[in-house]
Parts: sequence; C-alpha cells; structure tokens
Amino acid sequence: MFNTILFSITEGICTISINRPDKLNALNKEVFDELDKAFDDVYQNSSIYSVIITGSGSKSFVAGADIAEFASFNKDQAIALSKRGQEVFFKIENCPKPVIAAVNGFALGGGCELAMACHFRICSDNAKFGQPEVNLGLIPGYGGTQRLTQLVGKAKSMELQMTAQIIDANEASNLGLVNYVTSKESLINKCIEILKVIHTKAPFAISKIIDTVNTAVIGDSAFTNGKSGYDKEAELFGDCFATNDMKEGTTAFLEKRKPNFTGK
Ligand code: COA
Repeated sequence: MFNTILFSITEGICTISINRPDKLNALNKEVFDELDKAFDDVYQNSSIYSVIITGSGSKSFVAGADIAEFASFNKDQAIALSKRGQEVFFKIENCPKPVIAAVNGFALGGGCELAMACHFRICSDNAKFGQPEVNLGLIPGYGGTQRLTQLVGKAKSMELQMTAQIIDANEASNLGLVNYVTSKESLINKCIEILKVIHTKAPFAISKIIDTVNTAVIGDSAFTNGKSGYDKEAELFGDCFATNDMKEGTTAFLEKRKPNFTGK
C-alpha cells in the first residue's frame, strides 16, 4: 500500500512506522505524501481509535528532513517545502484520535518536529533529540520553532536551536519533551498500555480534549474563529452534553458501575 511507511491496525491501534532505515528514516516528499494519505485513513476509518508513530530499524525514529532532497532548492521551493511539512504535521496535531510518538532513536530536525506534532511522546533510553538545523545554515521548517518553544519554554528552545545541541532521553524527560522513558523493548508496549486506557473513555470527549488543548497552545484565532480557548472549551463542554456517552458516563457513576461507551 505504501513505499516509505509501514501501516498496520491491531485492536484499534494504528501503527505507522517511517520506513527508510538505510537513510535513518529521513523525511522526503514521498514520506510526507504517504503520511498525509495514512492520516486521511486514520481520520475516516472507524476501526482506528488511536495511532502510534515510530521509526523502522533499531537506530532512528527520524533523523530529519532528507537533506539530499532539498540541498539545491531555491527560496520559493524551500517555502513550499516548509508549508507542505507544516500542513501534514497540522493534520497529525489536529487528528481527533490520540497520536503518540514512540521515539526509538534519533529524533533530529524534522524527526523532532514530527514527534512534537504528535499529542505526546514516549521514548526509549537510546533516544536523542535535537534541532541541529543551524549546522546546515538553516532553521527548523516543520513547526519546530513554535512547538519546541511551547513544550520546553522560550529560553531552552532558544538555547537548543542556537547551539544545535543533541539531548538524551533523560534530559528530554526533564524538559517535559517526553512523558516517559522506557527500555527499547518496552517502548511500544508502554504506548499500547496508555492507549488501551484511553480506549475505555468516550471518544467524542477525547477528541474535544485534543481540540481544546491544541487551542491553548496554538492560540491562533485562525483555528478558533476569533474565539478564546475558554469560549471554545465552554462550547465543546456543551457539545459533550448532547452525546449518549455523556449520559452513559454520568449515569454509570451514579449507579456505581463502569460506563459502557459506544462512541455516540
Ligand atoms: N537526510 C538525508 N540522509 C540522511 C539524513 C538526513 N537527515 N540523516 C542520515 N542520513 C543518511 C546518511 O546520509 C547515510 O546515508 P548513506 O549510507 O547513503 O551515506 C545514512 O543515513 C546513515 O547515516 P550516517 O550519517 O552514516 O549514520 P551515523 O550513525 O554516522 O550518524 C546521525 C547518525 C543522525 C548523527 C547523522 O546521520 C546526522 O547527523 N544526520 C543528519 C541530522 C540532521 O542534521 N538533521 C536535520 C536535517 S534538517
């Protein structure tokens, strides 16, 4: 089905592996096109409840944008490349189903940006993170200047981007860039364990958590029709009251039983 990614669905969890291990899973045009298509399926396929994004091979999540592909680009081509990357990563960030990055090695440049576009990150203890674009005379172009700042704060974001420093899993955890560090062997199981908990909750409410939390960090009126995150929260809080799952959740609590959510 795809050339540069692996796509599988097990027990409602879609696993997408960037699959160019001989190039440390560097992101080229075809990877973006295939990620875009894969997320069309994630959005539409009702048998998918959540997503794990990881990298093929034992060494790398994604070692960045494919430098060989863009090295000879002119300014207009570079702007188009950045906008395309941003577009696909917005699609991941705004996915109404939970998306976890399972970072299993290098997450550099576009790889760190891909991980940051996911809803949260779990990494193995061999993971390495960084935005080393200044080494190439560049800045991050797939949302990294914005999302790294949202996640680790302005001062650390400035330092990491200006120095091109590569940080290890523990430092990423200390900075709040990843939620958990596991062994290599336990990485995917840890993601599955968390996703299985999320699968027991009401899917409509989960999708509205994603929407409202994204509004808090993106804070862009283009995404909220000029409304504040608080306005949006009140509106989506109200929308939850129109679902069967909200009635089921509150009734189950009052009847002292577990809720049986149906996604309606
Ligand atoms: N774009 C294109 N190719 C890449 C790549 C990238 N971002 N990262 C790695 N590769 C390729 C290498 O060119 C090499 O290909 P080759 O075998 O055909 O020569 C292959 O992947 C293996 O990489 P190599 O550099 O030999 O592995 P290493 O273990 O010595 O080093 C890294 C690993 C991650 C430190 C190193 O590959 C690196 O610095 N990559 C670029 C990171 C970066 O700057 N990313 C931001 C890009 S905007």
